[in-house]
This record gives sequence, structure tokens and C-alpha cells, in this order.
Amino acid sequence: MKLSSLSPKGLFHRVRRRAAVQTIQPGDPRLPQHVAIIMDGNGRWARKRNLPRTAGHEAGLQIAREITQECVRLGIKYLTLYAFSTENWKRPKHEVSFLMNLFYDSLQKVTTELHDEEVRIRFLGHIDQLPPKLTALIKQVERQTAGNQRLTLNLAINYGGRHEIIQAVQGLVKKAQEQGLEPDTITEEQFARFLFTAGQPAPDLLIRTSGEQRISNFMLWQTAYTELYFTSTLWPDFGPDSFRAALSAYKRRSRRFGGIKEGRRK
Ligand code: FPP
Repeated sequence: MKLSSLSPKGLFHRVRRRAAVQTIQPGDPRLPQHVAIIMDGNGRWARKRNLPRTAGHEAGLQIAREITQECVRLGIKYLTLYAFSTENWKRPKHEVSFLMNLFYDSLQKVTTELHDEEVRIRFLGHIDQLPPKLTALIKQVERQTAGNQRLTLNLAINYGGRHEIIQAVQGLVKKAQEQGLEPDTITEEQFARFLFTAGQPAPDLLIRTSGEQRISNFMLWQTAYTELYFTSTLWPDFGPDSFRAALSAYKRRSRRFGGIKEGRRK
């Protein structure tokens, strides 16, 4: 849309939004500490271009790399990307196998680079059910990058939120049986230690691309107070500018965690 075609009010809002997007500065304390993303729309992006769905996944991978770099640049400490859900096994066999190969090849390619950028790579999900050579690579990558502290990149692969909660319950019950824990004394913090994200803060911001407005079994426990941001942009089109727009929107949110705004006691 041409700026000249906007009403004065529309122009004011457009300029204000642009200014807000541009004010995202590295290290800004109002930035989220943890961003989680449901990367959706690869297939539709490809279809619009008459390309196979797999081309959309390749383009999506490139964007994941760019957003990771942007998080490093901005000083965001945790980025979680939902790459493959426990439900995604229902996709056509050739797409699942393409994705498994893409995860393997890209991990092989980018780990050294990410390691040099002091990125710790962790995996959320049931990695032992993945193809054995991918499971082995995942374990090696986790070990190799374990000491890095600049950004923690969580890749959720074969991840399901309900499944994660069930396995946390199983872990906690086992511990209770072994150590004679009283059920009434169990706290949220104790429970959270059995989740894949043990030791990490909850996401402050959850972004979902492609216009869908669902959580789709993603981080069900961790997102209790997370700010949600939905955009119609398809994931392969969601570059650093779109990411900064989401961060600007987050900065304008008022987070109260069930309380009331500072200074509004009456
Ligand atoms: C959603 O698009 C995307 C996925 C199922 C996951 C694949 C994601 C990537 C390859 C990107 C990055 C990967 C890593 C490891 C960081 P969709 O296929 O559901 O799209 P559609 O809803 O338009 O069909």
C-alpha cells in the first residue's frame, strides 16, 4: 500500500509502528528472555509457488537460521522452535523421511557455526524414537554445545505437550516412591524439574505463524502466562523484520501474571 493513500490517522499509526519496530535494540531489558515459535505455513508457502511441500521446509529451515542469528544479536537467551510434533508422524511417509533427513543434514552443517556463536543446542521431545543415526547426532550435538551460554536453542522434535506432562508425572511418581515423598508437599517447581525444559525459564512470548490460532499441544505447562502473538505471515516469509515486529508487540504488552498493574492498588 502506498503511504500517500493512507488517511492522516492511518499514516500516523503506520509511522508509529515502524518507529516501534526500529527501536528493538540488543540487550533491551524489555525484550523477552525466552521466545517460543510454532513455525507454521511451509506447505502453503510452497503451494503458492507451485513447489513441492519439501521446498517449503527447506525455505523454513533458512528462516529458522536467520531468527536464531537475530536472537544471538539481540541478546535473547532462549529460543524454542517447534520442528516436529508427535502428531506429525501422520504425514505422508516421504515427507516425514524428508524432514528427518533435513534435520540430520542441517544439524551436521550448522552445529559448528552455532557452536562458534556460543549457542547451546538442546532437544525437547522423545528423541529415542527418532531414526537411530539422528538420535546419535542429537546426543553428540547436545554434548558438544553443553557449555555455551549466549543463547540456548531448543529444538522440539517428536515433541508433544501432553506426552511431556505424562512423562514428568511418571518421573515424579518414581521419585516419590523411592524417596517416600508426601503427595501434599509436591510443588510446581519440583514438577517442572521433570519436564524437558528443566532449569529454563518459561517462554515470555509464543509466536505462531500462518494465521492459525492454536497451541497444538506445544509447551502446555510452560505457556501458562506466556504472551501469545499470532501472525498470518507464512513461516518461510517470517524474516528478522517480522520477528522484530513481534518483539515490538510484546514490549507493548502489560504482563500481570494474574495480579494488577503496578501503582493501581485502588
Ligand atoms: C510447518 O509447516 C512446519 C513443520 C511441520 C516443521 C518443519 C520445520 C522446518 C523444516 C523449519 C526448521 C527446522 C529446524 C530443525 C529448525 P506445515 O508443513 O505444517 O505447513 P502447512 O500448514 O502450510 O501445510
